[in-house]
Amino acid sequence: MTEMRCYIHTIGCQMNVYDSGQMLAHLSGLGYRQVDAPEAADLIVLNTCAIREKAEQKVYSFLGRQAKLKRRRPGLILAVGGCVAQQEGAHLLDRVPQLDIVFGTHAVGRLADLITKVRAAGGPIVDVGMQSAPEIYNAPLPPATVQGPSRFVTIMQGCDNFCTYCVVPHVRGRETSRPPFQILEEIRQMVADGVREVTLLGQNVNSYGIKEALCSFAGLLQQVDEIEHLARIRFTTSHPKDLSEQLIGCFGSLDKLCRHIHLPVQSGADRILKRMNRRYTRDVYLRKVDRLRQVCPDIAVTSDFIVGFPGETDADFADTLALMKAVDFDGVFAFQYSDRPSAPASRFGGKVDEGVKKQRLAELLDLQEETTLRKNRSLLGSIQEILVEGPSRKDYGGGDEGASLWMGRTSHNRIVHYTAGDSGTGGAPLPGSLVEVRIERAHTHSMRGTWTTQRPDRTGRKGVDFHAA
Ligand code: SAH
Ligand code: SF4
Ligand code: F3S
Repeated sequence: MTEMRCYIHTIGCQMNVYDSGQMLAHLSGLGYRQVDAPEAADLIVLNTCAIREKAEQKVYSFLGRQAKLKRRRPGLILAVGGCVAQQEGAHLLDRVPQLDIVFGTHAVGRLADLITKVRAAGGPIVDVGMQSAPEIYNAPLPPATVQGPSRFVTIMQGCDNFCTYCVVPHVRGRETSRPPFQILEEIRQMVADGVREVTLLGQNVNSYGIKEALCSFAGLLQQVDEIEHLARIRFTTSHPKDLSEQLIGCFGSLDKLCRHIHLPVQSGADRILKRMNRRYTRDVYLRKVDRLRQVCPDIAVTSDFIVGFPGETDADFADTLALMKAVDFDGVFAFQYSDRPSAPASRFGGKVDEGVKKQRLAELLDLQEETTLRKNRSLLGSIQEILVEGPSRKDYGGGDEGASLWMGRTSHNRIVHYTAGDSGTGGAPLPGSLVEVRIERAHTHSMRGTWTTQRPDRTGRKGVDFHAA
């Protein structure tokens, strides 16, 4: 079989990162090897995101560049998958006639067939049919192209929540969970390949397995926790309305579960939450955060916010800032509301001026920056347990430490760059090991420290106590 070269470019969320791994697995089966520049590829696959207008614009500017390549090299195959492909279908061909394949979010498992057809008989082919999730994720594990000890594992596809601003239910289809045995087997294989941390992915992991009468999400976590040599478990995303007592309890009982929860609140104003169809109130949200902190006092809580949702007044936005102060988040992602034509909010009145959105976003991010810096500074002098990801790419402005600077994350998902210092361990720590680092500098997005042999500081329950075999 002649070796062919593919280039996969991913825009979008962690689920798209996972899907791109699945695509690569299917392409490897056809004899493709991954290259890191589109110019060197026989096949270019773009995996797309439709969550906001900006993400969609990225798709068209990337495709514009690749269409030029294709005009020079007609044998090049150009494929577009993911959420924009699902949303636009054949319309994508009107905008980019050079495309050979448009494949939707449920066609990942059919990619190899589509490519074989195009190679035999030419394109274009559009496949945006939808079926169920277990069929989508039937690829063997992709070859380990991503270095590092951490991997994503999609446990469910789609979403049934229909928040009024959101495109996801329209482009990913109905919520469907993968059976536990499939997920557990995949993680076991990853661990056998040296993976130490997994992040379980779903748009709303709290409703995992309910429709299919599989096990609960907490039940799944318990089974993942039992996998030998796995050190850490994370998950995202949790919908506040479905965050159960059983799941909250996991933060007190499962040793491998990291002390961090991403719990998107979107707004602090009940009026806006209602218009968003989020189906919880600010009080319910605050009570759930309190419960999490009762069970795991030092748990890191992060969130997503949308500013400038249609009808959001200054008073509503003030409620959002007040909620942020009340919760004291460890980190947030915040976005200006963006109209999605398939989502009902695009037809809501009371659209907020772009300038006002921009200003609200800046104010929100300023407040969070202050909070994060204060929280990071409170860790100065402490010893934190880090899962080593690899050499640090962060440039601290030169100096003698460049090559010996390493990077990893704490259980709370804080990024730490560190040097070996006088740990006396000799050599560099292997990616995937858990090491203890004394925190010496605190920035907003990361911290800086020195590797020590001392035990980590632990508040709350006992942390992961597993050292590299
Ligand atoms: N399922 C997750 C969210 C996935 S989308 C949840 O329910 O929390 C990730 C984030 O993008 C959302 O949390 C929201 O903050 C943001 N987002 C989604 N649609 C948006 C839109 N139309 N405009 C701006 N931000 C949006
Ligand atoms: Fe979108 Fe809401 Fe579903 Fe999240 S829960 S993916 S925001 S519809
Ligand atoms: Fe984007 Fe689709 Fe993920 S719209 S955020 S890539 S589910």
